[in-house]
Amino acid sequence: MAEKECASKSTCSRESCEGCPSKGGPQSLLVEQNIYSNVKHVIGVVSGKGGVGKSLVTASLANLLAREGYTVGILDADITGPSIPKMYGVHGPAMASDDGIEPLLTANGIRLMSINLLLPDEESPVVWRGPVLANMVKQFWSEVMWGEVDYLLVDMPPGTGDVPLTVFQSLPVDGIVVVTSPQDLVKMIVKKALNMANMMNIPVLGLVENYSFIKCPDCGKEFAVFGTSNIDEVAAGVNLPVLGKLPIDLHLAELADAGDFAQENVEYLTAARDAVIKFEK
Ligand SMILES: Nc1ncnc2c1ncn2[C@@H]1O[C@H](COP(=O)(O)OP(=O)(O)OP(=O)(O)O)[C@@H](O)[C@H]1O
Ligand SMILES: [Mg+2]
Repeated sequence: MAEKECASKSTCSRESCEGCPSKGGPQSLLVEQNIYSNVKHVIGVVSGKGGVGKSLVTASLANLLAREGYTVGILDADITGPSIPKMYGVHGPAMASDDGIEPLLTANGIRLMSINLLLPDEESPVVWRGPVLANMVKQFWSEVMWGEVDYLLVDMPPGTGDVPLTVFQSLPVDGIVVVTSPQDLVKMIVKKALNMANMMNIPVLGLVENYSFIKCPDCGKEFAVFGTSNIDEVAAGVNLPVLGKLPIDLHLAELADAGDFAQENVEYLTAARDAVIKFEK
């Protein structure tokens, strides 16, 4: 039989394209969600580097969305440094059956899944290589029975490594929020995160600046402890909105440390919440 050009632009001697994985271009790497899940929107919270406040921003956005009456879940994709369950004072073990794993609930009704809810000891380190970490995150999507969820927020590990790549390829991420801090390197770091999102064809909703300023408790004056912020120029340069500037607030850190974050509504991030609600891919 004569060879002919197939959809993948290589030659092929099959009679028909039916059933061929090349049919219709490259194969999708998307993983099916659990049959007991119906997640309507997936939003990633990312940053180019660690410690800028992704987890705090994820939890704050989740609380604000839940307060509006949406059903919200948080998938903690930070397998080696999970912090979400601790912020909400939620402890495992999560219950599992043949159908899948049940997420745990925070005091304000947010559904959580994190490696810390599955480990027998929360303090055991996870010493796994990249592909194993990435597989775990896929299972948080395919094996967890999320139920009916309006917004599933994915708290990413820092950077552009195996896990963020897997989340972008395997989950139907609608858009991402990029968290930054006010330092000189911000422009380059933001660009790395944005370039990754562009490469993966994931829309970016906007930027959130954390640690923007500190407010004097006596006179109310604001001090830019990390230097003057250039987030507005950076955001304008990449044609994105600034969705919030969050001050350094010890009260937030104390609530997170005490596991009481469910009671906190960070009003500085209402624009980010509204951007998530209004956003349609
Ligand atoms: N605006 C803030 N005011 C006070 N403390 C904050 C603020 N944002 C974050 N923190 C605290 O700083 C620490 C780091 O924040 P967080 O864990 O959210 O960062 P992260 O980007 O998720 O870090 P990692 O890259 O390790 O996942 C936490 O203890 C958190 O409670
Ligand atoms: Mg984190």
